[in-house]
Amino acid sequence: MPLFAILTLFPEALEPYTRESILGVAQSKGLAEILLIDLRDFTRDRHRTVDDRPFGGGPGMLLKPEPIVEAVEWLEAKYGRFRKFATCPSGRVFRQSVADEISREERVLILCGRYEGFDERVRKLVDFEDLSLGDFVLSGGELPALTIVEASVRLLPGVLGNEESIAPESFQKDGLLDHPHYTRPRVYRGLEVPEVLMSGDHAAVERWREETAHKRTRVRRPDLLQNTNNPENASSPEADDAPDRAN
Ligand SMILES: C[S@@+](CC[C@H](N)C(=O)[O-])C[C@H]1O[C@@H](n2cnc3c(N)ncnc32)[C@H](O)[C@@H]1O
Repeated sequence: MPLFAILTLFPEALEPYTRESILGVAQSKGLAEILLIDLRDFTRDRHRTVDDRPFGGGPGMLLKPEPIVEAVEWLEAKYGRFRKFATCPSGRVFRQSVADEISREERVLILCGRYEGFDERVRKLVDFEDLSLGDFVLSGGELPALTIVEASVRLLPGVLGNEESIAPESFQKDGLLDHPHYTRPRVYRGLEVPEVLMSGDHAAVERWREETAHKRTRVRRPDLLQNTNNPENASSPEADDAPDRAN
């Protein structure tokens, strides 16, 4: 069963989320295990100090190297080698393909930074790969860690119940965005569900879904089309591709 270890100063903040919904289901079905490791358990002083002022001055505090390195060593001695990620705004950007990669690992460790981050020597002592959620700065790596774990765990076989439900999602199928979805009622505040979805013609529904997925990708994320082998790569946004309320 894949093991995800999250190193954090706030295990109690993460714990309720990992018990609910997909992560809770995955763990109760025995399809994944999530360990929340408190970095303060790897301190040696009375105050359980995990941070200190940066050399050279400047604002903010930094996570000290010892608790991080020792927590990783303890985990690897107990469970074996992990693929190790540090959450960091300057890392490789996390995307679906990375979630896919991570979901194939047996053991994954994610370090949550805090304050101004962590002592740089940690990177020399532990083979962390830096992962960023995007070009913005959060106060800690806890939300990125949960994001990375959830995006990866939901790809594990059996977690979503119906494996087909992964395939047509955004970024999954040919790297395109997902097509629009509708449920009941058929008419809501004067807005009707597209006729084709109620036609019972599965081929026509499939065609409509493919077309709307392509159209939405062209309009919203043309950059994604550069990355696929898709014939759509060559096309430019068309006049009728302007986003509308229904799409
Ligand atoms: C306030 S941030 C540190 C920012 C750092 N001084 C910088 O400018 O790159 C504290 C921690 O939040 C996490 N974090 C913040 N933004 C993030 C992002 N976009 N992606 C991943 N982790 C992030 C990292 O773990 C980071 O060490």
